[in-house]
Amino acid sequence: MTTPRLIHPFAKPAKETFRNLVKAEGVRLWDDQGREYIDALGSLWYCQVGYGRDEIADAVDAQLRTLNYNVFDPWANATTEAAAARIADVSPLPDARVFLCGSGSESVDTAFKITRLVPQLKGEPDRQIVLRRGRVYHGVNMAGTSLQGIAPNRENWGELVPHVMEIDPDDIESAARIFAEHGERIAGVICEPVQGAGGVHPPTDDYLRRLRELCTKAGALLIFDEVICGFGRTGEWFAAQTYDIEPDLMTFAKGVTSGYQPLGGVIVSRGVCDVLESDPEYLFRHGYTYSGHPAGAAAAIANIDIIERDGLVERASGIGERFHAGLSALVGDGRLSALRGVGAIWAAKLPEGTEPHQTVAIRDAMLDKGVICRPIGDSLAFCPPLVIEDADIDRCLDVLADCID
Ligand SMILES: Cc1ncc(COP(=O)(O)O)c(C=O)c1O
Repeated sequence: MTTPRLIHPFAKPAKETFRNLVKAEGVRLWDDQGREYIDALGSLWYCQVGYGRDEIADAVDAQLRTLNYNVFDPWANATTEAAAARIADVSPLPDARVFLCGSGSESVDTAFKITRLVPQLKGEPDRQIVLRRGRVYHGVNMAGTSLQGIAPNRENWGELVPHVMEIDPDDIESAARIFAEHGERIAGVICEPVQGAGGVHPPTDDYLRRLRELCTKAGALLIFDEVICGFGRTGEWFAAQTYDIEPDLMTFAKGVTSGYQPLGGVIVSRGVCDVLESDPEYLFRHGYTYSGHPAGAAAAIANIDIIERDGLVERASGIGERFHAGLSALVGDGRLSALRGVGAIWAAKLPEGTEPHQTVAIRDAMLDKGVICRPIGDSLAFCPPLVIEDADIDRCLDVLADCID
């Protein structure tokens, strides 16, 4: 056995064997050993519309055969402009504009830079502090690494981005204290409305509303990182709508194309756009070669069309009800100690005292029985494609119960 030539992300570089997938269709995957899996994680929390969608593949194919060009000044193209408009139109931010990039990590770094840029343009150079919540995940670029609350992910990369402070993920009073002390130097707060990779934690009551108030009062920006939550996951197009909060910036990726093309971005509110647009001579010195790549844009449009046409945003709530009922029954009979979630994103907390390696063992047993979920600490996370049928949800819950036993 030798190590593969590919260095796998978030894996031990010395690991030699991986499960080799060969096909995906709907919510199912097959590996080269002939094993069939139900994907109850939507790959990496990203596939809203299921696999094997010809409409999206055809849209990307047609776009690549027609035009594949950048959108740096002076260039534009109709597909990329239409994707930006489509994304802005399903977002809750009125008259917003959209910056496009290639991933969630790039979207977080972009939002971070805009958050620092706005006070610079407004003549407030001392406003540089950005607050992060504990337990949160914001990707792996340098700002995202500095902004994430999962401590092991921040280690061994040398000095991180300065002027980042952490607030408690559940107790808003911790944020209130930092605002009271540093308010005039705070540029913004970044926050996953529902924390995903940190273990699926919906916000505690009033947390987001109070955070919005603190930001507004201090003149700081509120960034919602909707990389997992966006595009229907929480039962609305965005979690901002689920919790009825208007952030200043919203990052997105994943569900925007259901992973058919790499695409991320930032939805920029009118208030922030006004600052960026105020000086006609100001040049926005930020952008990636693949910002607004027409193939990603074509995938986004086709994917959003499917989400709309097939009513998948509404379907997320039905998925949530079924997971809630099934997981509650497992809590009732003592197999689980708790459940957390909203819409179509859930976590099952294993019995008190479960160690992370035991969670991984249960996940592995579930894989052997053909169900994919994600182990996080003492919990297993579920985030299935929004096309999953009730019988497949029930199968996932049955396999979970079996494997805990
Ligand atoms: C909330 C959140 N932000 C950012 C990211 C980073 O996205 P990417 O892996 O596409 O860079 C992720 C990825 O899981 C995420 O969950």
